[in-house]
Amino acid sequence: MAEFRLAKNARVEKGRSFRATANAGNTRTFHIYRWSPDDDLNPRMDSYEVDLDHCGPMVLDAIIKIKNEIDPSLTFRRSCREGICGSCSMNIDGTNTLACIKPIAEVKGDIKIYPLPHLPVIKDIVPDMTHFYAQYATIKPWISTQSSAPPDRERLQSKEDREKLDGLYECILCACCSTSCPSYWWNGDRYLGPAILLQAYRWLVDSRDESSGERLDELEDPFRLYRCHTIMNCTRTCPKGLNPARAIAEIKKMLVARKGV
Ligand code: SF4
Ligand code: SF4
Ligand code: FES
Repeated sequence: MAEFRLAKNARVEKGRSFRATANAGNTRTFHIYRWSPDDDLNPRMDSYEVDLDHCGPMVLDAIIKIKNEIDPSLTFRRSCREGICGSCSMNIDGTNTLACIKPIAEVKGDIKIYPLPHLPVIKDIVPDMTHFYAQYATIKPWISTQSSAPPDRERLQSKEDREKLDGLYECILCACCSTSCPSYWWNGDRYLGPAILLQAYRWLVDSRDESSGERLDELEDPFRLYRCHTIMNCTRTCPKGLNPARAIAEIKKMLVARKGV
């Protein structure tokens, strides 16, 4: 029988342990993935005991405390700390989510933190999003028009047309959905994945846009769109409660409708 094993230098090893001070009564242990491009060492899981009596309620609060007070070498991304910028996305307790809005109290026992899966790692829990953003650029995420703009006002939208963007404009491009999608894991080079397809749909249904034909032409491709097999991980994972699988299904319906079948 074939035996599959990770290459030796890809195996995650047990790392260092940092204990809380003896007077800390309410502690939790955070196991965090560590890897640096600056040495030849294997990735490892470092463990940090954090005093929760002197820590904010979210996983990101604990990570910031670890960096500030225990181990300044820990590398991660964050900016807004309120679920708006999308930069603190990571895998916590087996699920892709935003560390700043993930309550520590929601995780039972020790808390395991990894980078978003199936993306190259830049360092520790910081993934390389270059390809993801390049894919975003391919869908031309801006209003595209051929007609001239009204001379005296903006291009207006009815209330009903504006409502069609609800559930779409809130996407913060955190990539939690795309990196939870098995189709994206295996075909991410050519499949756009749920985040980018949700964004593509956002421009397709914008009443001010005049390029839906070209946009659909670009998407009508066995890889870019049709690698979605409705597995629904994306919708289950989205920390903003959005439904990328539905957006993908709507794009497929638009393609069928324009064929008149
Ligand atoms: S529904 Fe489509 S995009 Fe979402 S996880 Fe499944 S295959 Fe991926
Ligand atoms: S749809 Fe949700 S999970 Fe996906 S990128 Fe947007 S906010 Fe993140
Ligand atoms: S820090 Fe901005 S979404 Fe978490």
